[in-house]
Amino acid sequence: MRVTIFGTGYVGLVTGTCLADVGHDVVCVDIDAGKVAALERGEIPIFEPGLEPMVRSNHAAGRLRFTTDAESAVGHGEIVFIAVGTPPGEDGSADLQYVLAVARTIGRHLERPGVIVNKSTVPVGTADKVHAAIAGELAARGADVAFGIASNPEFLKEGDAVNDFMRPDRIVIGATDAHVVDRLRRLYAPLNRNHDRIVVMDVRSAELTKYAANAMLATKISFMNEIANIAERVGADIENVRHGIGSDPRIGWHFIYPGAGYGGSCFPKDVQALARTAAQVGYNAELLQAVESVNRRQKLHLMELITRHYGGDIAGRTFAVWGLAFKPNTDDMREAPSRALLHALWDAGARVRAYDPEARDEAQHVFGERDDLDLCESANAALAGADALIVITEWKQFRSPDFTRLRGALRDAVLFDGRNIYHPDEVEAAGIAYYGIGRGRSVSA
Ligand code: UDX
Repeated sequence: MRVTIFGTGYVGLVTGTCLADVGHDVVCVDIDAGKVAALERGEIPIFEPGLEPMVRSNHAAGRLRFTTDAESAVGHGEIVFIAVGTPPGEDGSADLQYVLAVARTIGRHLERPGVIVNKSTVPVGTADKVHAAIAGELAARGADVAFGIASNPEFLKEGDAVNDFMRPDRIVIGATDAHVVDRLRRLYAPLNRNHDRIVVMDVRSAELTKYAANAMLATKISFMNEIANIAERVGADIENVRHGIGSDPRIGWHFIYPGAGYGGSCFPKDVQALARTAAQVGYNAELLQAVESVNRRQKLHLMELITRHYGGDIAGRTFAVWGLAFKPNTDDMREAPSRALLHALWDAGARVRAYDPEARDEAQHVFGERDDLDLCESANAALAGADALIVITEWKQFRSPDFTRLRGALRDAVLFDGRNIYHPDEVEAAGIAYYGIGRGRSVSA
């Protein structure tokens, strides 16, 4: 099928590339000419395992093209996706200006019946606004073109997005028009072979489904972080508790890892936006607000442990930090817990020597040049001259360090493990003081 995707950001690029890979004829359009030119050369602006070779091979095969020409792009697609950003506005609600600008562009250029699909994460009711924006432009130029709207949220995880797209656990289609549903079923048929993963529902339910999924996952994380904070105070170890509850299939093993708080482009933004939507319809979403505030506090929990260890005497110390990205396998630092921690350390007068396998350039961009930050080339280099080590992102390469060597490298043998990737006994056996998240046993020891 001929597919057009507006937006070559994370979601648009993954969607376009994967749809091309299963044989569709895809045109991706973006207003950023530099980005389009780079993509045409096969250079992708994000770090996502497996994506770049797929962009190159599908581009070479002629199934995937990039353009700034919105008119020809609208002319190309039997199905037109809107996959542009919905950044949080000042009050936490999603800013729809880019989505609606694309809708108006589609309305200006639509010449034959089409299906318009919202892939961006948008508040409930946005499909109606998109419909009105397109209809308004059609009416303004006296055009009578039939079109249908659908909501088709994505559930992609950064670092595993290609796999998530190619092997979806569900494909949510929000549309009431049978023709629209049929077109999308055909589009997704190559990904829906063995058993039917397509869930069809009304548009508003599909829009809410996306927020509900992310809010539920964020809730699990904040819940575990809260239990971890209790564990720490009552002398229990959250890792034992996690093992003790995860085997209950009603709870499950996923998303119950305590840590330095959740970050990224989705959870923080979506939890706030859903709370905001609730407020707009007169409902006080207390649980969502608590999920958010527990997470804010959690991002500073390591700083509390550090402050406690040093009795508040932090000024002039140097901390090695392993990991800056909001999670492994990405260079993304949006809402990363590392940002809150580093600023807290700097505010307390400390210096930071940080290493991240992928996020070095991003960190340079986020923090700028500062005297109290060294972005190092390796995990070992970050240790040089440091008092203590803080691990904040659980990259695989940090999992089994040589603790004896670590002890020798650090001025003060102490390790703050923001992701509980080490066993306290192993660290302590090497003569290093260990602090984890929710590990009351080691804190009270
Ligand atoms: C998330 C959703 O998983 C995905 O379905 C949706 O489409 C977009 O948002 P992503 O933001 O890429 O994906 O990352 P994810 O792997 O879900 O992790 C989010 C954050 O939660 C990370 O900061 C991670 O460190 C944290 N996390 C995750 C925990 O602290 N504990 C856990 O048990 C799981």
